[in-house]
Amino acid sequence: MGTEWLDTIVDARYDATARIVVLDLVSPDEVELPEFAAGAHVDVLVDGAAGLVRQYSLCGPPHERTRYRLAVLAETASRGGSLGMHRLRKGDRLRISLPRNRFGLSHEARRHLLVAGGIGITPLLAMAHALEASGAEYELHYCARSRADSAFLTELEHNPHIRLHFDDGPDEQRFRTATDIGPPDPETAIYVCGPGGFMDFVISAALEAGWRAEAIHKERFTPVQDATPKAAGGTFTVRLAKTGGEYEIKEGESILDVLLANDVDAPYSCQQGICGECIVRVLAGEPDHRDDILTDRERADGMFTPCSSRAHSPILELDL
Ligand code: FES
Repeated sequence: MGTEWLDTIVDARYDATARIVVLDLVSPDEVELPEFAAGAHVDVLVDGAAGLVRQYSLCGPPHERTRYRLAVLAETASRGGSLGMHRLRKGDRLRISLPRNRFGLSHEARRHLLVAGGIGITPLLAMAHALEASGAEYELHYCARSRADSAFLTELEHNPHIRLHFDDGPDEQRFRTATDIGPPDPETAIYVCGPGGFMDFVISAALEAGWRAEAIHKERFTPVQDATPKAAGGTFTVRLAKTGGEYEIKEGESILDVLLANDVDAPYSCQQGICGECIVRVLAGEPDHRDDILTDRERADGMFTPCSSRAHSPILELDL
């Protein structure tokens, strides 16, 4: 199931910080871009046909249909993706996927508590735009190393719903889970995005304070450590219910890689257990979940990520 690619043109580009570039993408035909909901991301074909695909959140207002806004941090350990994005100039073409969303706003919550660490501000900024437009009750906490490392300050600074926390700032503005997250509230949803260590810190503090796991929505840019098919796990067989194919998955192999190598038309994108594009249903067998996106309820409903997860049982039957 190949990705449907959309051609765009870089209409504006500016350096928000020394390491964050902001790119505005428009349609070459000057038509509206496909609709998206706050929290969505797009896959980006960074170097054209060479197939370097990266995921970036849409951080502009969701009601703005003439342009998509991305903000990209130059990763020090970049495998080429973020640096390729930083090289883009106004007028350059960029192919992106249709927006995808595994990090949407809760429809059940009355209040929304957004917690961003560094470049994790991107999906949460789109959420803040949407919540602002709908008049919903929300608070956004943006934690960054310093003012110089923070993007979008001019649009965030004077908004009474937004609190800025700088690591090098005075003590009284530091992010404190006890007061900034506070005690559990059944009507509030928490949304967390940022570097892995920051997210783990916020999520464990909220859980320790008694928040329900289902109230905490998260989006990671990198997989949790060891949550990969390369981590230990013995050989098992994957059986595909629709095609009838059977494939042996050896230690160190991912189910998705084996399926793709055998020309199975399976959906996928990030291949790291963080985007949700490859999710399929398990029909039989015992899954060994290693993703960081499925909720306990989704796992109980049989959902499974073949790019990152494995099997505890000798045979795993998938709805493919
Ligand atoms: S391809 Fe992204 S979670 Fe599997």
